Amino acid sequence: MLLRIISDVHGNVPALDEVMADSYGRQADQTLCLGDVVGYGADPEYCIDSVSRDCEIVVKGNHDAGVADQLGLEYFNDPGARAADWSRNLLDGRRIKWLAELPMLREHEDGLVLCHSYPPKPESWSYVLHSHLAKSSCQSFPGKVCLVGHTHVAIAWNESGTPVRLDSGGLDDVCLINVGSVGQPRDGDPRAAYLTIDTDRRTWAHHRVEYDIDAAAERIREEGLPEVLWKRLYVGR
Ligand SMILES: [Fe+2]
Repeated sequence: MLLRIISDVHGNVPALDEVMADSYGRQADQTLCLGDVVGYGADPEYCIDSVSRDCEIVVKGNHDAGVADQLGLEYFNDPGARAADWSRNLLDGRRIKWLAELPMLREHEDGLVLCHSYPPKPESWSYVLHSHLAKSSCQSFPGKVCLVGHTHVAIAWNESGTPVRLDSGGLDDVCLINVGSVGQPRDGDPRAAYLTIDTDRRTWAHHRVEYDIDAAAERIREEGLPEVLWKRLYVGR
């Protein structure tokens, strides 16, 4: 089975549409989403509708929780809080309810653990940026591969907590993969990121896709959201 895993769409329609149209991922049997469908970007409605229609599993991100009023806006930096508040006022009750009811963690039948932030304690919203959190995630789910987002940095880690700086590899050589961000990459590469997993061959691959950054930036400007939210799209930071 081929799985396509996306995360951190953040209301960015051009990025989401390009990722979903990308030739390799389009062959996927299932699409899974690791949360932060909304926040930062200017089109939360479209992204909720698209992700809820096209993804077999979706887990909750901190921005989804913030917009659904389950996490205080003081948790976010100022531009993030302004975008979350704006999204909350825009969305109708049905879409807010969809965000509110997303699970924090789900296990997939192929030995995968899906979580937005830190699998051993999802409600902490910790960022797996360092070796010890990668290692403790792996130890909490022995024999499984944890898939996360949240940092917006595409990377993989092995069992000893060492980052694996490859674009692809064997599933048995890693135990935690950050799939990167569709709508707001922060690893210095502004292209939209996603992951595929071939569960029969037990392989994974990161993918990057060019998208119309001007269009996404223009929408953020049109809605009067903070300047930093569109400027960062061009540099992937
Ligand atoms: Fe995010």
